[in-house]
Amino acid sequence: MRAPARALSFGLALVAAAAMAGGARAADSDEAAATFNRRCTACHTFGHGVKVGPDLKGVTERRTRPWLLKFVRGSSLVIAAGDPTATRLFADFKEVRMPDWSDLSETQVSGILDWFAADGPEHQKPPDERSATLADASDVEAGRRLFDGRTPLANGGQPCANCHTTRDAASRGASLGPELTNVYVRYQDRALTAFFKRPCLARLPDSAATRYLSGEETFALKAYLRAVAISNHEKGGAR
Ligand code: HEC
Ligand code: HEC
Repeated sequence: MRAPARALSFGLALVAAAAMAGGARAADSDEAAATFNRRCTACHTFGHGVKVGPDLKGVTERRTRPWLLKFVRGSSLVIAAGDPTATRLFADFKEVRMPDWSDLSETQVSGILDWFAADGPEHQKPPDERSATLADASDVEAGRRLFDGRTPLANGGQPCANCHTTRDAASRGASLGPELTNVYVRYQDRALTAFFKRPCLARLPDSAATRYLSGEETFALKAYLRAVAISNHEKGGAR
């Protein structure tokens, strides 16, 4: 069967086009989202109420930009200077102090504020629904380790390599199930996300688990399978 070779290039072209379509805007909001998820969500929600600090939904309407830039990058100074809004907030939040995010540049904080103003956090996709085109090398490596079992699956499922192989030289597996080198291209991102909601074989004991793979695991495995398909394509292999 030679037809899949062309279907494969076409599929990869789609993958690449989708990655470029969002352009710079997507890159900015990705950075804002990553910073928010890493540094802010321990204490703040966006639209889900007060946590350790105030709900940040609407904050770009209730405060001015200059105030927000100053406060996020150095709330302790703003409070110490006796700014009335800051002093009241500090008192309302039982004198819990927010860290001074002085290592974030004004541009980075502005990026987060723009993203808030566009209600960005509400449009965040759960991790498994994020397209693998957003993955970086560490996500691919995390997927590779999940695939071959070096990192155990959180919900106790069997490693993929117990039943599957790919052409990835760094990961060798068994061949009870189909070879997966080009499965990312054949399925595309969303169909693969849907596929990963259930274990491959209905009879496996782990199919009873409430969730087979965590969202992060699905994202990493998609990232890995996408990287394997692309690298195989670059080597001129089609399957
Ligand atoms: C350790 C907990 C904590 C973390 C982490 C944290 N904050 Fe805060 N934040 C607070 C608290 C508490 C307040 C209330 C003011 C105070 O007590 O200093 C606050 C207040 C704010 C306010 C003012 C809200 C308003 O209604 O005016 C903004 C804006 C804000 N934080 C943004 C951020 C951003 C952006 C991040 C991530 C880069 C972040 N915070 C991370 C605890 C935190
Ligand atoms: C116990 C063996 C077993 C394990 C473990 C297993 N699979 Fe499978 N998988 C199969 C079999 C058998 C099939 C083919 C039957 C089917 O489609 O239901 C399959 C099908 C698939 C397919 C569809 C392939 C195609 O060509 O349509 C994908 C994608 C897949 N598996 C990915 C994974 C991933 C990723 C993991 C690890 C998280 C995994 N599998 C774990 C046995 C397994």
